[in-house]
Amino acid sequence: MNGALVVVDDVAESFAEILIEHLPVKAGPVRSLAFSGGSTAKECYLRLASLGGDSTEWSAVDAWWGDERCVPLDDPDSNFRLVNDSLLSKIAPLRSVHPMRSDVPHAAEAYEELLRAAAPIDVIHLGLGPDGHTASLFPESSALTAPDDRLVVSNVDPLGNNPHERLTFTYSGIARCRTCIVTVAGESKREALHRVLDGDPSAPAAKIDGENVIWLVDALAMGPRMGR
Ligand code: 6PG
Repeated sequence: MNGALVVVDDVAESFAEILIEHLPVKAGPVRSLAFSGGSTAKECYLRLASLGGDSTEWSAVDAWWGDERCVPLDDPDSNFRLVNDSLLSKIAPLRSVHPMRSDVPHAAEAYEELLRAAAPIDVIHLGLGPDGHTASLFPESSALTAPDDRLVVSNVDPLGNNPHERLTFTYSGIARCRTCIVTVAGESKREALHRVLDGDPSAPAAKIDGENVIWLVDALAMGPRMGR
């Protein structure tokens, strides 16, 4: 595993606090965020909306997505909808919002072009699946071996544990972001987290790398290993 491991009581609270501390409060530097999907992410965004709703200069923030299911943006399974319902609908308008559109030709390449035309994203938020995936980088999936120059690719879970065709950042896409915050909460993630900590090559999240990677994990996910 690369980066810093921080064990916290409440990953959603810690996630929101880190971002609020570094998000522009007034004429501060522009910030850009790439959002994740999943229930942990939803908790993080609800907390971000309640803790940073008013104090953050959201009009200086650009929103991106680190992965998306290839469904309509208003589909209950859409990561855009998850972020919109838990955060964007509760705060002031952002400077720009870039949903991952799967209904356009060459969707992955189109999103990659948008990314390349913008400055590297300041913060990407990732989760950890019980199978060791992150974003939509699933075990044994083709996206794990995407060419280094690709930032976004289409992908599916060949083992069938995760629904829908996906669009996902590649490892290069993740590494291009200035900071990566991975949030891991609950006992159900303990086995996957330990595989990551052990550098298990079959856990895609173990290969997350970049300039500044922060793993925010709670005691339940960490388990008795905390002392080691
Ligand atoms: C997705 C997410 C995915 C998620 C993990 C953790 O589109 O499903 O991006 O990578 O972050 O599966 O999800 P939970 O927090 O719900 O366990």
